[in-house]
Amino acid sequence: MTLLVVKDVIAGYGASEQILKGASIDVGAGEIVTIIGPNGAGKSTLLKAVAGLVKAKEGCITLDGADVTAADALGRSKSGISFVPQERNVFGTLSVLENLMISAFSAPRLQKQRAEQAFERYPMLAEKRRAMARTLSGGQRQILAMAMGLMTDPKLILLDEPTAGLSPKTADELFEAIVALNQSGLPVLMVEQHAVEALAISTRGYVLVAGRAASEGTGPALAADPETRRLFLGG
Ligand SMILES: Nc1ncnc2c1ncn2[C@@H]1O[C@H](COP(=O)(O)OP(=O)(O)OP(=O)(O)O)[C@@H](O)[C@H]1O
Ligand SMILES: [Mg+2]
Repeated sequence: MTLLVVKDVIAGYGASEQILKGASIDVGAGEIVTIIGPNGAGKSTLLKAVAGLVKAKEGCITLDGADVTAADALGRSKSGISFVPQERNVFGTLSVLENLMISAFSAPRLQKQRAEQAFERYPMLAEKRRAMARTLSGGQRQILAMAMGLMTDPKLILLDEPTAGLSPKTADELFEAIVALNQSGLPVLMVEQHAVEALAISTRGYVLVAGRAASEGTGPALAADPETRRLFLGG
């Protein structure tokens, strides 16, 4: 069954302003789905709408067949959606361990166990467990943010521009970590500016333009499409 279905969602920030203008996307079990598109197209807004941080005025969102459209962010989190924002996604003055612990807010008795699982998955975090998050490198911080997103044991993880600001080499390492995470059984919905690299590791992708999915395809097909390349990938 399709895990996430977003159907004809209209949403925005003000009372009247519409940013998403009938956005429809879906994510199947086991997939990595990437959303690309121009600045201001509404990519982050779409992830926020899925996470329950922006309310859908029209349309519907289902997870595992259950309608979650009316649920707030906490409700979405409880039903298995985890959102890793692009910016300010770690608490700089808290330690790595503290960042992980507070991210398991919904399951206080499982905090320690889940933190240990995060350390097994990402040994670098175990080495840095007492370090303040602001002392981590950009790539390490993104791994921490992703590990924090896993502390609720989600069914789906949303990543907003996980490689933003990283060097090409560090970005490649992060993409490898995303593939590994997906192969461990977690579906991924991400927004990326590094379109070619992101589509190369994606099952499918969507091009979001002016609040709507203008085209979609398998990762490799979308990366090779002349129109997509001309518009977003620099020819
Ligand atoms: N908190 C907010 N309040 C009001 N308007 C907002 C808010 N966040 C975003 N917007 C507006 O919504 C539109 C879409 O923004 P969004 O961040 O979803 O785009 P994006 O596709 O993620 O762009 P980018 O590639 O720059 O990250 C923009 O016009 C933006 O100015
Ligand atoms: Mg954005």
